[in-house]
Amino acid sequence: MFEDLEKVKEKCLACKKCALSQSRTNVVFSGGIKNSKLMLIGEAPGFWEDQKAEPFVGRAGQLLDKIFASVGLSRQKDVYICNTIKCRPPENRNPLPEEKLACKEYLDEQIRILKPRIIMVCGNIALNSMLPSERGISRARGKWFDGPYGSKMMPIFHPSYLLRNDSREKGSPKWLMWQDIQEIKREYDKL
Ligand code: URA
Repeated sequence: MFEDLEKVKEKCLACKKCALSQSRTNVVFSGGIKNSKLMLIGEAPGFWEDQKAEPFVGRAGQLLDKIFASVGLSRQKDVYICNTIKCRPPENRNPLPEEKLACKEYLDEQIRILKPRIIMVCGNIALNSMLPSERGISRARGKWFDGPYGSKMMPIFHPSYLLRNDSREKGSPKWLMWQDIQEIKREYDKL
């Protein structure tokens, strides 16, 4: 199974299906571990991810690591991390519909091959790709949805959003993320 994933990765690294292939430094295919029951799907690489060919290594990634650590999880031993879009959009703008369409096959293949049991759908771009009928992350977060191949999906806030909202008071985005990650960990512990 991991050989198949390597083939998908090779194809993705050579991809020229959309204009982002012209401006990228690196394709960012995935991070974390492959034999994981837990997958996180983010948005798209930013500056540092594009430089290092690794997802979530900038400020948002550092916060994500802290969120995982708060419930005893880590990308080194528990989580497979990937993005909706594998190449950085210039100036970190939102991906265009044609870029999302071009990249969808890679994400679909990652899910088909790895068959995670729990998928964390991180932020609005990933929500739109995985649950297109949902009306925004603020409404959808914290709820379980049926995912592909019998998985369970939970939309969660994107860590970049938390970086812009510092409050930890009850009901704040950070507080809600804390509820969500604890719920995800409870489900993970049952597997
Ligand atoms: N934000 C994302 O959604 N993905 C990354 O890899 C980095 C920042």
